[in-house]
Amino acid sequence: MINKVIGMKKFPEDFVWGVATSAYQIEGAWNEDGKGLSIWDEFCHRGGKIANGDTGDIACDHYHRYKEDVQIIQKLNCKAYRFSISWPRVLPEGRGRVNEKGLDFYKRLIDELYAHGIIPFVTLYHWDLPLALEKQGGWTKRFISDAFAEYAEIIVKSLKDRVKHWTTLNEPLVIYGAGYFSGVHAPGYKSLYKSIKVIHNLLLSHAKAYHAIKSISPSAQVGIVNALSPVVPETEKDKKAAMLAESYTQRIFLDPFFKGAYPSLIDKKLQFLNRDIRDDDFTLMKNTCDFLGVNNYTRMVVKKTFLPVPGFAIIKSKSYPLTAMGWEIYPEGIYRLCTWIKNEYGNPPVYITENGAAFDDVINDQGEIVDTQRIEFLKSYLSDVHAAIQDGCNIKGYFVWSLMDNFEWAEGYTKRFGIIYVDYATQKRMIKHSGTWYASVCAQNGFE
Ligand code: FCB
Repeated sequence: MINKVIGMKKFPEDFVWGVATSAYQIEGAWNEDGKGLSIWDEFCHRGGKIANGDTGDIACDHYHRYKEDVQIIQKLNCKAYRFSISWPRVLPEGRGRVNEKGLDFYKRLIDELYAHGIIPFVTLYHWDLPLALEKQGGWTKRFISDAFAEYAEIIVKSLKDRVKHWTTLNEPLVIYGAGYFSGVHAPGYKSLYKSIKVIHNLLLSHAKAYHAIKSISPSAQVGIVNALSPVVPETEKDKKAAMLAESYTQRIFLDPFFKGAYPSLIDKKLQFLNRDIRDDDFTLMKNTCDFLGVNNYTRMVVKKTFLPVPGFAIIKSKSYPLTAMGWEIYPEGIYRLCTWIKNEYGNPPVYITENGAAFDDVINDQGEIVDTQRIEFLKSYLSDVHAAIQDGCNIKGYFVWSLMDNFEWAEGYTKRFGIIYVDYATQKRMIKHSGTWYASVCAQNGFE
């Protein structure tokens, strides 16, 4: 399958090379053409939550510049583009009335992608919940799973002819962990109780949306995107904590879909803390991933805590070189992760839906962005992806996070993840050296 050319790491013939973004991080146009508000609009405007008081109001102005951006994706020789749909742009109140202008934007974007030979990979939810639904309890309430399935149905009915790859939720771990436990993301709660409820409602939402999508478009490939990292105990004493962390952060968004149950280590605790779990929920959840989206950046180092739930804390380890996010560069993690998925979950098809790094990019005197560190980062992670494929992992594609610099959530515009540089004052896009390098990887289906 994999051609071995001396010195070249070649990927399987049908390997999908792509780049990824998300709606709130790039679109801007936060209140245009009938779009409703999302929890991120509210969170940023609340003040005091985001570095420099930044907001996604304008972001990369992609809503108006999508044609230029699609041309850039083509220049990168990418076969695929992963983006997300803004739920409140299409359903301003979250349910009911459809904003046709919002839907039209995505139709135009997809037309443009096809005109440039690029396949869309569409994520339905990348964190921008309609504010109207948040006001009714949002992810903490069970009704949200029906609202999400309705939204999925509306989108899929309208785009099914041209979209075959759907992912429901982006990183449920971060939705509950950052949004409801640590509070650093919208909607900004710090509540263990709420988090536990949110976990179950996210699982249920994925499952209901999966069934809704498949009933409309049986040939669609539907998956979920998880934030996954190998979990490592800080010391020998933290081994139990590491097992708990693995259950609460990784297995919890895999076991229900692949095994039809919560992870056994935490099942009883979750059932005790959330009385709104029904047995048939797990019937609904089982076998609802045609593929798995994996976002990996680093590893997760944990230590034990005195609180029994969750029983672990994630620490900022600095044992390896760090990116500008302070995340350890740990390429073998992606290999470990992929082989773990293969062995634990029956080797499902996997797309690496996000991988990349923030560095402090500078434009040099020649007007170039020589981001050698990012090239080294991508090369090292891709080498491990390649090794995992050679060892039998069913990895179908890889998407760099991100196509371009964008609004990095609580960090605002201070962190640059793009392989395209964005000058926010002028909205000028410039290809970084990593972009040129990645274009050659996509063209050659591999690298030296
Ligand atoms: C992931 C998010 C993505 C981006 C990267 C850096 O957790 O899915 O939107 O912020 O991290």
